[in-house]
Amino acid sequence: MGIERLRSCAWILCGAMVATLSGGCAGAPASPGGQEGTKAEAAENPLEVPMDAMGDAFKALRKQVGNASANASSLGLVATLRENATAARGLAPDSAEAADAAARPAFLEGFRAQIDRLLASLATLEAQLRDGKNDDAARTVEEIVGIMYRGKE
Ligand code: HEM
Repeated sequence: MGIERLRSCAWILCGAMVATLSGGCAGAPASPGGQEGTKAEAAENPLEVPMDAMGDAFKALRKQVGNASANASSLGLVATLRENATAARGLAPDSAEAADAAARPAFLEGFRAQIDRLLASLATLEAQLRDGKNDDAARTVEEIVGIMYRGKE
């Protein structure tokens, strides 16, 4: 039940991600853990801060992941993604806050499981970039798109 609601929420947030990833996503990347920034102050939900930062980093990473000469930079972007995913894991989406009290624990569990899938893929991606396996890394990035959109395993 909670999981179903999380899935439909993932579809809704999809729109925001597409807009951010395909449009020119303006603004300096936000950082987790407290750089003062307008995004943090403006965010209605604290989760928007790490998600926006992931949006910026992931957009850049998708463009350059196949380019071996950019691997040092790509590894930096993966680190930014991991930091922000870890920060996001400790937060709750608005939709979880809105769920009734009985449903909330399962809902949050589903949310964290999706973040954990992302973190596992980021570990794979990091190893591939370190090994110079850019074709594999590009495939992993596309898998992450799937995790981002649908929360599938
Ligand atoms: C690389 C992977 C991901 C990227 C690039 C990404 C990016 C984004 C972006 C740009 C937003 C819009 C933030 C805003 O409203 O300003 C967003 C929202 C959101 N994302 Fe992600 N995301 C990723 C993975 C995930 C995962 C694994 C989950 C787990 C469920 C998730 C859950 C959410 C939720 C719940 C919101 C709505 C936040 C809110 O406004 O309350 N995202 N994401």
